Amino acid sequence: MGDTLHPMFTWGVGTSAYQIEGGIEDGKGESIWDRFARDSPMVDDGVIACDHYHRYRSDVALMADLGVDAYRFSIAWTRILPEGRGRVEPRGLDFYNRLIDELLGAGVTPWVTLYHWDLPQAIQDRGGWVNREVVDAFAEYTGVVADALGDRVTNWITHNEPWVASMLGYQQGVLAPGVTGWDNGLGAAHHLLLSHGRAVAEIRSRVADARVGLALDCRPVSAASDRPEDLEASVHFDGFRNRWFFDPVFGRGYPTDMAEVYERLGRWNPDWVRPGDIETIGTPIDFLGVNYYTAFQVSAGREEVDDSGIAPGHPALPGHTEMGWPIVPSALADFLVRVQEEYDPPSIIITENGASYSDAPDRHGVVADERRIAYLASHVAAVDEARSRGARVDGYFLWSLLDNLEWVAGFSQRFGLVWVDRQTLERIPKASFFWYRDVIASRR
Ligand code: FCB
Repeated sequence: MGDTLHPMFTWGVGTSAYQIEGGIEDGKGESIWDRFARDSPMVDDGVIACDHYHRYRSDVALMADLGVDAYRFSIAWTRILPEGRGRVEPRGLDFYNRLIDELLGAGVTPWVTLYHWDLPQAIQDRGGWVNREVVDAFAEYTGVVADALGDRVTNWITHNEPWVASMLGYQQGVLAPGVTGWDNGLGAAHHLLLSHGRAVAEIRSRVADARVGLALDCRPVSAASDRPEDLEASVHFDGFRNRWFFDPVFGRGYPTDMAEVYERLGRWNPDWVRPGDIETIGTPIDFLGVNYYTAFQVSAGREEVDDSGIAPGHPALPGHTEMGWPIVPSALADFLVRVQEEYDPPSIIITENGASYSDAPDRHGVVADERRIAYLASHVAAVDEARSRGARVDGYFLWSLLDNLEWVAGFSQRFGLVWVDRQTLERIPKASFFWYRDVIASRR
């Protein structure tokens, strides 16, 4: 069915601004990640990252060589509006104009993510995602970007992984801006979701043929046993991790079982939700982006434990990547089918999937990252399976083109198809690069 309705399948790669660009120049303002890295000496900073800001032409040439249809990248809000609102920095827009023109010249379709976690520090100084004002700020930023790039960009992703941005950034405080507290986390989540809905309208009013969605981080979960308390824990985890975001985005409002628990525990104040918010959040989208890496088994007492954003950087145990994440491709297939059946998105795009392994060049300069190839092959097969079971999956973006700055895990975790030498910044395509090139070519 998927094939008849959507004959074109998009093969792509993804990155995000903070993780690859570097280039703190041309009027760029400070973001919460610049500040967080500065104040946390253990965290690698993004001052140079992959120096993509200066090397974007050769990075686009790599993509052309890879043969991808599309490239998903994010815009650094602080390049466009250094103070978050108000003054627009034309040199910031120029960079993305040049990048997009280079991509189009190479036959690669740009997919733009507006927010991949790098909030302007000036907005954080006023409370960041916890302060409802941020919704207007995001709408303003979205309008500026859509006006500037909308003549060449059709595919738009408002937010990347609002669970991570809110709960790891504002509830657990392990990612920027390092704020803690349930009220902050759930408040941030509400404003992220609300700003998504607002942005969909901002883009559609400016870009006639726009296709707009968002990328949700998916964490399929199963109960560790069939004991009732474990089953209950897995339902709770699914609510905490998945349904709290999926339900409102698909127009159902917040799941009542979770809202009751959050309210009872004093974490959630329903007054945060103003009249019209639920409708705005539920504005129909053109596609759902699914970011998938791993799945969890949950037992009683661990219904809210997901610290997978903080990687220790250890050798991969069997069945795990170096992030310590269990490898569970079957959970991806089942989750995609579930999403199709429960929420019925018009189209699903895998906006991220990939694996961290630190296999390095041998003395001939060859990176034999066989474990990454095995991971990717099993997950591409899971996508095929989900399609044959009725999930309308229309694209797959591999994370990532380049080894890059993996947030608090820094440069120790390597997700790239292309090795990046930390000293020279030289790029060396890995075996997985050539594997993916063959996959794409054989599917055309
Ligand atoms: C996701 C992020 C992405 C990258 C991968 C490994 O949560 O969206 O930037 O860090 O994980």
